[in-house]
Amino acid sequence: MKKLAVLVSGNGSNLQAIIDSTKCGILKNMAKVCLVVSNNANAYALERARNEAIKNLYIKWRAFEDDSFFDREILKQFQNLKIDIICLAGFNRILGKSVVKIFDGKILNIHPSLLPKFGGKGMYGRFVHEAVIQAGEKKSGSTVHFVDENYDTGKIIIQEAIDVLPEYTPNILAKKVLEIEHKIYPKAIKKIIEN
Ligand code: GRF
Repeated sequence: MKKLAVLVSGNGSNLQAIIDSTKCGILKNMAKVCLVVSNNANAYALERARNEAIKNLYIKWRAFEDDSFFDREILKQFQNLKIDIICLAGFNRILGKSVVKIFDGKILNIHPSLLPKFGGKGMYGRFVHEAVIQAGEKKSGSTVHFVDENYDTGKIIIQEAIDVLPEYTPNILAKKVLEIEHKIYPKAIKKIIEN
């Protein structure tokens, strides 16, 4: 049984999809979410973790004016709980070098576009979907990739595309992409566990 930690900042629908897949989906008997960490005290994702009785923590990003406080704290938690895989799911920061190095090849992120298109700094949430529509793209989708020290540049694990229909607004596109994300994130985790 692999132990997962999920880092979040917002709604946590991907977190929920991962939890559900460990309870009654493709990750059943394979993985368990043991920790949820948010850098946003008001993230609904924390409520989801509480509802599932999963250990959950809010850790302030810039506590004590120290950029790496968050990294040091999560590292301690990951090591204490013997976490195997870290999933970034709507987490709005990049992780510090130390965490990335220690957990190299074990940190995953999900991004709401077909990377390398529409990735990088500032490309998150609605900005991605607005840019896709503005560029007149015929396809968009989602990508699960390994995390390195930069934004959205790590090796791709799984990618799935959908058609962008002419009538799509950024909101509609966001909704369609999220539906794919909920399917591919558990699949990507499974792939990593099975190697
Ligand atoms: C997803 O679209 C994900 O690709 C991006 O942030 C969003 C998170 O949504 N990184 P949720 O919090 O999982 O609902």
